[in-house]
Amino acid sequence: MFLEAISAISLQGSNLGPLLNSASANAFLTPSSCNWGLLSRSSSFSNLALSRKRNNGFAVYASSKAPSVPLTGVVFQPFEEVKRDDFIVPIVPQVSLARQRFSEECEAAINEQISVEYNVSYLYHSLYAYFDRDNVAMKGLAKFFKDSSEEERDHAQKLMKYQNKRGGRVKLHTILSPPAEFEHIEKGDALYAMELTLSLEKLTNEKLLNLHSVADRNNDPQMAEFIENEFLQEQVEDIKEVAEYVTQLRMVGKGHGVWHFDKMLLHEGDGAL
Ligand SMILES: [Fe+2]
Ligand SMILES: [Fe+2]
Repeated sequence: MFLEAISAISLQGSNLGPLLNSASANAFLTPSSCNWGLLSRSSSFSNLALSRKRNNGFAVYASSKAPSVPLTGVVFQPFEEVKRDDFIVPIVPQVSLARQRFSEECEAAINEQISVEYNVSYLYHSLYAYFDRDNVAMKGLAKFFKDSSEEERDHAQKLMKYQNKRGGRVKLHTILSPPAEFEHIEKGDALYAMELTLSLEKLTNEKLLNLHSVADRNNDPQMAEFIENEFLQEQVEDIKEVAEYVTQLRMVGKGHGVWHFDKMLLHEGDGAL
């Protein structure tokens, strides 16, 4: 916005000639000393007043109104645009200094997504605890869900960091208590847990797409890009990975085949979602 304000500045034609011919004025017109390089591209010169004054000094005004300050050198007065409320730096401690064009709807939607990530993380943590039991003893699935739980918490933290970056306020919601038992008579626990995981990852993707549409609706391209770059790509890949696990578990059935699947997960790299 500051650059927009700068580019909107123009110079009064009647005063420009003498200034540009003056050696002392040229000293102020070099790009290294100020932003005049931007000014030189302006097509009209009507709002910014430059005047030759005594003692070879020059006054520079953003307003065409008559100067009222004694002139002993180059004097900058605030641009009219800077006086708008958007550019006023808050003095109340509870109000963000950084916040700019960040809507309340975007702020609330990010808090909502933080809640989604935490709830999914909590459920994956419960799955980790289940598969780590001595009478279940599926170390690969336990590791997979522990890593996945931590990854969802990282997602929540990434959103918290972004909320603060934009000047929003993080408000954590209540986390639901997840189930503790995942046995399923027909499917067995491994397939049941992985189908549940696929549903959760798709739900998360729906929520992320909704978050992206909130950013679009509020004309916030920076937030939309953040969601695309940091979440959407990875989410689609996660869904594909879990869908393949579901397919494999449906193939092997219950019992011995699941034991092999569990070993595969244990020795696979970081399979966290
Ligand atoms: Fe996530
Ligand atoms: Fe995930």
